[in-house]
Amino acid sequence: MGQNARRRIAILGSTGSVGVQALDLIARFPDRFEVVALAAGRNSELLARQTIAHRPALVAIQDESRCDDLQPAARAAGAVVMAGSDGVDAVAAHPEADIVLSAIVGAAGLRPTQRALAAGRTVALANKESLVMAGALMRRTAEQAGAELIPVDSEHSALHQCLRGESIDEVRRLILTASGGPFRTTPLEQLGSVTPEQALKHPVWDMGRKISIDSATLINKGLEVIEAHWLFGLPPERIDVVLHPQSYVHSMVEMIDGAIICQMGVPDMRGPIQYALDYPRRFAGPVPSLDVGAEGSLEFAPVDRARFPGLDLAYTALAAGGTAPAVLNGANEVAVQAFLDGRIGYLGIPRLVQEVLERHRPHQVESIEDVMRSDRWSRRAAEEMLSMRVFA
Ligand SMILES: NC(=O)c1ccc[n+]([C@@H]2O[C@H](COP(=O)([O-])OP(=O)(O)OC[C@H]3O[C@@H](n4cnc5c(N)ncnc54)[C@H](OP(=O)(O)O)[C@@H]3O)[C@@H](O)[C@H]2O)c1
Repeated sequence: MGQNARRRIAILGSTGSVGVQALDLIARFPDRFEVVALAAGRNSELLARQTIAHRPALVAIQDESRCDDLQPAARAAGAVVMAGSDGVDAVAAHPEADIVLSAIVGAAGLRPTQRALAAGRTVALANKESLVMAGALMRRTAEQAGAELIPVDSEHSALHQCLRGESIDEVRRLILTASGGPFRTTPLEQLGSVTPEQALKHPVWDMGRKISIDSATLINKGLEVIEAHWLFGLPPERIDVVLHPQSYVHSMVEMIDGAIICQMGVPDMRGPIQYALDYPRRFAGPVPSLDVGAEGSLEFAPVDRARFPGLDLAYTALAAGGTAPAVLNGANEVAVQAFLDGRIGYLGIPRLVQEVLERHRPHQVESIEDVMRSDRWSRRAAEEMLSMRVFA
């Protein structure tokens, strides 16, 4: 990929929050980026509009019943249409793409992310489940194909930026920042009765429902610890989490001489998306400048592990290895949905995840199918426990 050439981008999950923000960035900077392929799940209407606007060579939709909806837009744009998993995989391994933005949500993102890595593409990774559920497999695939992974998650983008020009051997620890969510200061005795509406009110980021609840429990930060482990290769005991309610410091790296390097900026996902799509270049994009002097004080505090037991569950799963993180992820998805549906209380989320993890005997991951089997086992176990007893 030449330093000054226009980047050719394929997007997996173009109709989602990350995908739409990426296309907005690409549309503003046509001299830097062009779209070669788009894939989505079911939203054929938005995908058709994106096809007209960006004129990709290939457009794919997972839901085969929506394929016909795309034909008029594809004809007008001169794009080939594909449907189902083959279509999504074809976008992932598109021969003209320099970079594949992996922004499908959940376990559905694993197979196409692995396809992109196996094809040797640089992958801008938003789909954190790929590394949480199948980190060893993704790393192995990337190494074998000589593919590069550039993180899109804001914390990991920050760590990537802090590590530029540094040797990983000279790093003492990675420090992920967490805002602490809406319940950072709620009296502990009130946590049992908080509602989904309260839990969904994230103080800084405007995100989807699942990730907002994960931010309240800090399980999201736990998933990010696992992601950081696979991205940067440090053991769990050298990856820390610190509370930082203002969310201007997106994460930090402590070097062996005690120097701490941090990356700051306004909390705006377009920053990490731009960084990943144009790495190692930088340019003046849409993210506003942070007026550091006007922001007042920045606070940092240790995580209260009694308030946020979900964080330690992620460390436990990472230490157990193999299929354990996939089981953590699956059980957590069931628990979050059960909380949103009013079937369990807020404190029931980490309790249910813990019980499922305790019941699991982890084994090595050799394939995506191994991971998906553990995911199914975990969801079944969580549902069984939910039906058997009441969680606070
Ligand atoms: N949003 C953020 O600020 C943010 C920040 C950091 C990391 N992330 C991570 O980035 C990923 C995407 O997040 P998001 O917020 O953009 O999610 P989202 O808004 O829910 O969008 C998900 C995208 O995935 C597509 N999709 C779902 N199932 C699919 C399938 N089986 N095959 C093909 N495409 C499928 C959806 O298509 P349809 O809508 O057409 O069905 C949509 O384009 C997640 O892993 C999330 O954790 C997000």
